[in-house]
Amino acid sequence: MTIRRVHENLVEERADGVAVLRIDREDALGALSRSMVIGLRDYLAELHEDESVRVLVITGSGKGFIAGADIREYHGVTRSAFDSYQRLSRSVFSTIEALPQVTIAAVNGYALGGGFEVTLCCDLIAASERAKFGLPEINLGLLPGGGGTQRLARAAGVRFAKEAVLTGRFYTAAQLRDHGVVTEVHSPDQLMPQAHELAATIAAKAPIAARAAKRLIGDGAQMPLEVGLTVEQQVLSELYTTADAAEGVAAFLEKRQAEFSGR
Ligand code: COA
Repeated sequence: MTIRRVHENLVEERADGVAVLRIDREDALGALSRSMVIGLRDYLAELHEDESVRVLVITGSGKGFIAGADIREYHGVTRSAFDSYQRLSRSVFSTIEALPQVTIAAVNGYALGGGFEVTLCCDLIAASERAKFGLPEINLGLLPGGGGTQRLARAAGVRFAKEAVLTGRFYTAAQLRDHGVVTEVHSPDQLMPQAHELAATIAAKAPIAARAAKRLIGDGAQMPLEVGLTVEQQVLSELYTTADAAEGVAAFLEKRQAEFSGR
């Protein structure tokens, strides 16, 4: 396993095709400063090109996953500095969503504002029974600016998004599982072992198929059904020509474990 600090508040652990990026700012519950968002942007740009990583897990430290934007940096800045932070976050969150790697949010604690928005950009969301999700910006006289009003409405429906944004309420992992947002809930001590297991399960699949599946489902949700079905068949047809598809089918017929090469 390799461990490296990619930013003062961001630590990456990497092993067997899985990268775990931990937000390391426990004293501020993982609140995202501008400098951290820039660190995240640079890290994601590098990861995007790295085919050796198949799954990215994002997690936090202590009681915080990410308690939102660093509110201290909202105080007394110009409108243009405020807008610039929002644009930066928007683009970095969209980069998470568009990563070729499969992404898992392993939510240990507070996932508020931008923290909740980061989870909504991930493919899967595993959360601890101690996690708390919310979009509390209305309490600051503001609104979510990193996709909260848009991605939550698409993920869980317009009415639930309105309730969350208008009340600023906090939700447990189990409540969000009921809304189809959180994909699995674990006890605090089981969160990371289970997130690792999920990541390893996905990392062991044929990588071209896994990347294609992620893209297809994400893009398909924006398309009319008939267009999505056509794209699905095109992608499947391309996959059929890969060495991994030949290996997967042969391994099944020979009653052995497939060994995927990523070709
Ligand atoms: N930005 C900056 N600092 C933050 C922060 C944020 N978004 N969220 C928490 N912190 C800091 C607190 O200021 C405090 O720092 P201090 O010890 O120097 O005073 C520290 O993290 C611990 O937070 P605290 O409020 O004392 O913990 P708590 O357990 O009583 O409450 C929360 C936890 C998450 C309910 C509360 O911190 C909170 O409401 N945070 C803001 C969440 C938010 O509005 N996010 C959206 C931002 S746009």
